[in-house]
Amino acid sequence: MTSTPRPRVVLGVGGGIAAYKACEVLRGLTEPGHEVRVVPTEAALRFVGAATFEALSGNPVHTGVFSDVPEVPHVRIGQWADLVLVVPATADLLAKAAHGLADDLLTNTLLTARCPVLMAPAMHTEMWEHAATRDNVATLRARGVIVTEPASGRLTGADTGKGRLADPAEILDLARLLLARPTALPRDLEGRRVVVSAGGTREPLDPVRFLGNRSSGKQGYALARTAVQRGASVTLVSAHTLALPEPAGAEVIRASTAEELREAVHKSAADADVIVMAAAVADFRPAHRAEYKIKKTGRDPDPVALTRNPDILAELVAARQPGQVIVGFAAETGDTGADVLEHARAKHRRKGCDLLVVNAVGEGKAFEVEDNAGWLLSTDGTEKPIALGSKAQMASEVWDAVVALLRGVHGQ
Ligand code: CTP
Repeated sequence: MTSTPRPRVVLGVGGGIAAYKACEVLRGLTEPGHEVRVVPTEAALRFVGAATFEALSGNPVHTGVFSDVPEVPHVRIGQWADLVLVVPATADLLAKAAHGLADDLLTNTLLTARCPVLMAPAMHTEMWEHAATRDNVATLRARGVIVTEPASGRLTGADTGKGRLADPAEILDLARLLLARPTALPRDLEGRRVVVSAGGTREPLDPVRFLGNRSSGKQGYALARTAVQRGASVTLVSAHTLALPEPAGAEVIRASTAEELREAVHKSAADADVIVMAAAVADFRPAHRAEYKIKKTGRDPDPVALTRNPDILAELVAARQPGQVIVGFAAETGDTGADVLEHARAKHRRKGCDLLVVNAVGEGKAFEVEDNAGWLLSTDGTEKPIALGSKAQMASEVWDAVVALLRGVHGQ
């Protein structure tokens, strides 16, 4: 019996306070069975001890190039890896990597690795915004290194700003994407404005009840996250979702009802190059929103009379700016009249969007699960199957198709 090789990951750890979060990333890599070598800097070991990394990875930990010399680790570790992650990447590490310095095991590894390299920065806002760091990040990105955007929020002290390490769950999501698809994050959306809606709307019946749906928001968040990494300026209009980390680097606008989501999407859509409607928008809302809790002893015989919500996607298509690419989603089940694809083709014609991403739903498929499969329907009639994979993988296929359309539209 042949077993699938375990993905091999180098986890570089820089000397910043966020080094403790590298332990969570490490757990997230070893739990699904990845082989992980942790390569911290000397400074990182002042924040987290080598014993922690050794115990969690099951492998020895060294920082310099003079341990295990006959094994030539300063070359072998980089050659061995399917993916190198650096969590956190300090300003100093970014500078060393950009200039090809190699004065310890991690910086040597960065020079010898030929696999995808993802660096997740964490530092104070001033350091992130400094011209030196900006130039180093630009150099690394131009060479194909994926440098994630830091999150905004509480920093080491009482201060807040841009520079927090992206959420470990977000880093893991991107790591899994790169292991499955090493070329998934080119910077081909640089200079583009993208609006993504995500999650499920809630339509209140009274102060305590609402009509909702089972959308988790994961697909929309994966779309926003991957678009940020591909260089886009992203606005995520988020309705209700499971507890998900906000995609670092995206502007997040919260909306609850279909009406609120509609307003937020239209506002952001005016100057967007791409709009992706991944939100599950309620088609109907209660005709009346009761001011007080509805009682079963109440006089209204039908307290759930409904009225139609506007179709936001159809409105966006009707108001489309020249060159704008509009993507819709369709969660379909087959029925006695037609199968999933037949329903989807009819919806694509009806909605008039450039691309329609089709998911088969029901019986544990698509909602609240990690993996998705489906089709991508284009207006030129192509129907591309999307193999079962993570929502980030599906997102990266959607962005590939969007980029092809943007290039076609703008003749680039
Ligand atoms: N959509 C929207 N506004 C609505 C309903 C849906 O913008 N009021 C968008 C969704 O975000 C998605 C697409 O339309 O991108 C398809 O949603 P879906 O609920 O599958 O389509 P419906 O038009 O509601 O069709 P039906 O309920 O008949 O399947």
